[in-house]
Amino acid sequence: MQIEKLREVLLKRVETSDSPREVLRAAELRDLYAEIPKLPSDQRKDFGQQINKLKNDLEEKIVKRENAAASAKVEPIDITAPFDINSSKPELLPATDGTVHPLSREIQIISDIFARMGFDVVESRQLDDDYHMFTSLNFPPNHPARDNFDTFWTEDGFVAPAHTSTMQNRILKANKKKLEEGGQIAGVSIGRVFRNEDIDATHEHTFYQHEGIFVSRDATLGQMLGVLRSFFETYYAQKLRVRTQPSYFPFVEPGLEFAIEKPAALGGAGKGGEWLEMLGCGMIHPNVLKEAGIDPTKYRGFAWGGGVERLVMLKYNIEDLRHFESGKLAFLRKFR
Ligand code: PHE
Repeated sequence: MQIEKLREVLLKRVETSDSPREVLRAAELRDLYAEIPKLPSDQRKDFGQQINKLKNDLEEKIVKRENAAASAKVEPIDITAPFDINSSKPELLPATDGTVHPLSREIQIISDIFARMGFDVVESRQLDDDYHMFTSLNFPPNHPARDNFDTFWTEDGFVAPAHTSTMQNRILKANKKKLEEGGQIAGVSIGRVFRNEDIDATHEHTFYQHEGIFVSRDATLGQMLGVLRSFFETYYAQKLRVRTQPSYFPFVEPGLEFAIEKPAALGGAGKGGEWLEMLGCGMIHPNVLKEAGIDPTKYRGFAWGGGVERLVMLKYNIEDLRHFESGKLAFLRKFR
């Protein structure tokens, strides 16, 4: 019978053709449909159903072959390759374009400057406890100064540290032997800190600080100012005018704010008088030394702590602090 024969031929063709869907478009089926009206009316229905069945069977076979062809085309994923190799849109970001984040790079530069001055550099912690955040730093219980540094507490009493001063007690305790041996303590900590802060172009809830602590028999405020001036002049590669004004932190006495004058080379007006507050500092409070087991009648020290982003923003004339954590490629690519 005509249909049975055609069925065999067409199925075979679908099986072997390079473009199986073309088989359906071929003329034969259309010719069959054209024959329906010519048949006696009692045969038309049956004949029509047979053509439909043939068409469906061919369609099924075609889809099967198309699926097989599609899966044969998928290349195996190399899980060790850079992500863009496996990406279906490699134009997104070739892995060879990756760079160190500007903050990481500047933190390395800052660490190197202090290391060359003789400071050991450590990283601060991103989760700390009440003792290192407050008690060891001479914050009496319920003292209002705690409010300035109150951030986020976990249910089991840990805190997202608001400053890198949490490292002071650890550095002092770990190095106090050096004092007994006639040496000095010189440590810098750098790390991420957190604040309960409304966010704008100059405020973030998460940012980085650099912090220093120095203890010897005869440390002075003048030495501290020398260290800080020398750090800033090295970082900005130019002479700077600096000044201090009194400030309050429970862990230093006296406490100061340290400012530099914005030079023309860094976007200042060139007329002077534009002061930028860069960090808090002062002579270590005797109670902080005592808490670390260091005799404050024998030893003295100074400490400072300030934001990293604000340093970097001034260096590169960045107008908005939020760029750093935005993940914007246009911003990051400027630092290649
Ligand atoms: N921890 C202070 C702050 O975050 C800065 C500071 C550090 C002040 C060390 C004095 C001494 O504001």
